[in-house]
Amino acid sequence: MPSRDHKGIAKKIAQLRDQLRQHAHSYYVLDTPSVPDAEYDRLFRELQQLEAEYPKYITADSPTQRVGAEPLAGFSQVKHGLPMLSLDNVFSDEDLIAFDKRIHDRLKTDDDIEYAAEPKLDGLAVSMIYQNGQLLQAATRGDGTTGEDVTHNVKTIQAVPLCLSGKNYPALLEVRGEVYMPKKGFAALNAKARKLGEKTFVNPRNAAAGSLRQLDPRIAAQRPLAMYCYSVGVHEGGDLPETHTAMLKQLALWGLPVCAELKLVSGVAACIKYYQSIQQKRDKLAYDIDGVVYKVNAFNLQQQLGFVARAPRWAVAHKFPAQEELTIILDVEFQVGRTGALTPVARLEPVFVGGVTVSNATLHNMDEVERKDIRVGDRVIVRRAGDVIPEVVSAVIAERSGREKKIQLPKKCPVCQSTVERIEGEAVARCSGGLYCKAQRTEAIKHFASRKAMDIDGLGEKLVEQLVEAQLVSTVADIYRLRLDELAGLERMGIKSAENLLTAIDRSRQPALARYIYALGIREVGEATALNLAAEYPDVAALARASLDELQRISDIGPIVAQHIVNFFAQAHNREVIAALAEVGVVPQAPTITSRQQNLPLSGKTFVITGTLSTMTRDEAKLRLQQAGAKVTGSVSAKTDYLLAGENAGSKLTKAEKLGVEIMTEDTLERVFRQ
Ligand code: IVH
Repeated sequence: MPSRDHKGIAKKIAQLRDQLRQHAHSYYVLDTPSVPDAEYDRLFRELQQLEAEYPKYITADSPTQRVGAEPLAGFSQVKHGLPMLSLDNVFSDEDLIAFDKRIHDRLKTDDDIEYAAEPKLDGLAVSMIYQNGQLLQAATRGDGTTGEDVTHNVKTIQAVPLCLSGKNYPALLEVRGEVYMPKKGFAALNAKARKLGEKTFVNPRNAAAGSLRQLDPRIAAQRPLAMYCYSVGVHEGGDLPETHTAMLKQLALWGLPVCAELKLVSGVAACIKYYQSIQQKRDKLAYDIDGVVYKVNAFNLQQQLGFVARAPRWAVAHKFPAQEELTIILDVEFQVGRTGALTPVARLEPVFVGGVTVSNATLHNMDEVERKDIRVGDRVIVRRAGDVIPEVVSAVIAERSGREKKIQLPKKCPVCQSTVERIEGEAVARCSGGLYCKAQRTEAIKHFASRKAMDIDGLGEKLVEQLVEAQLVSTVADIYRLRLDELAGLERMGIKSAENLLTAIDRSRQPALARYIYALGIREVGEATALNLAAEYPDVAALARASLDELQRISDIGPIVAQHIVNFFAQAHNREVIAALAEVGVVPQAPTITSRQQNLPLSGKTFVITGTLSTMTRDEAKLRLQQAGAKVTGSVSAKTDYLLAGENAGSKLTKAEKLGVEIMTEDTLERVFRQ
């Protein structure tokens, strides 16, 4: 082949690599995809084909070379050019103020100190060496002096550039940062492992560590790892900025991933404000964090402050209260839910975790108990994250004495003694007692009265329990037969509250049909499904007559939900409850044609939701959209009117852009809702 053609091929290869790098950077680092996935795949395959035909043009930094072909025999050791330090921790505002005071004292200044504030990522530290812009080596922190060579795995992390972009980077540049596993990727990884009956990871940090410690890069490549850079180690040849924030901005310009939450704050009060704002956002972040880090921003001041032992004097980690603690399982009881599901609940030796004292934690179901092999008497890790119910994560099996007792699923319901059924292949065991079971009845009544259902103000969970216990209420219809003297006679209930409750009960006699359907507590019929059903049927009688086929034609209703609906209405006691409700004057109101089809701000509009929303969950958004008259579907097509796009929107956004579908932000939507 004439050399001119070869030149053409080399050029084409270089061009493809450039395009692929830019698209990967937009996708993995900037979180704003620039092309649809299919286009990226096409370019990737084109490059792969060219490289297969002309192997002499293959370079180590080609996007095709992220995954090595062969597993390593073992890890080699890497000695760090500069030690990888640790951070001192503070757990309170007072300790942080004391840290800030020490800085003032050492620097002999009264001026506010400028700090770079950033989240403390819960992953593991790595060092990456770039030589002339090429990723040469990546190593774990190890003991701070010597780590393990994990280049083969770090190269598989799409957010890590194999070569730096831009110009003027030092000839030798060591970048340090945290490798982590995003929460979503972690959940998907564990879901897959569970399905295959494989071992799951306890938390995203362990999953990230386990993935980096793989000898086979092909396994690491399948793990959804990401990274954020937070400092520079050894560097030679080239000038670097003089502050931490400017340095991280420079790293971002060279294509390296930097956390978007990085902020420059001045003075300790601003640090505390930052801590609080990150703590509030914590659940919504795509990754796990366990606190925030403040670093004196100016490098010359950092140098003046220096180090103590293994940690710098110029930085500190302000930790959130621990979300995981160790305690002992004293006993396990089974709670019966509204649908009869038996949930094993561990009674614990009380432990302070996630900011509160916890003495009960869920074990989810028997499958989980068996998979994790948790026993009464075990020392266990308990986790309480955000508003989530505390759960038992795992047992410390190494500490067993042999006296621990296996947890047995009871054969009879602990509340009503009916048989407990566990359908083959289903994780959940259920009490077969239905509404005969006091626990199921109580839960059904709580659900019926709750805010999103009939919204009976004042009829909370505790009061429902009291009413059932006193045998004043045994079906939901009984709520409407309650008398003032009966209520006023209850403990902690005065005449005034009893009167208020009766007024609230009375006011709930004409619920919207959707609320009523939701309140019935049909399995897997949530608010959104109830809204769909109410839009389809004029009343409950019509819904009760609906066939499986007919139900499945409604958007979002699949065979399982349809079967639950049919089963519900097939049971005599459910039909009796509905008749009794009608008898006591509960008459659901069907949406009128005008409100359903004409008057609402989004009537006739079809929406798709994508990405992470910041002011509401996707379910909430869906519900609000439906309440405003819109139809919400799962995939973007030419029929879609709007795409509601949150952060990290992926292929749906790309598709919508291609089809010219209008993109709507939460802000705009809020304005529409307010109309
Ligand atoms: S700075 C000398 N910044 O926390 C400064 N570390 O407890 C050393 N970490 O080993 C690190 N997020 O693995 C720094 N934004 C952040 C961090 C962070 C997480 C980890 C890192 C380090 C450990 C120290």
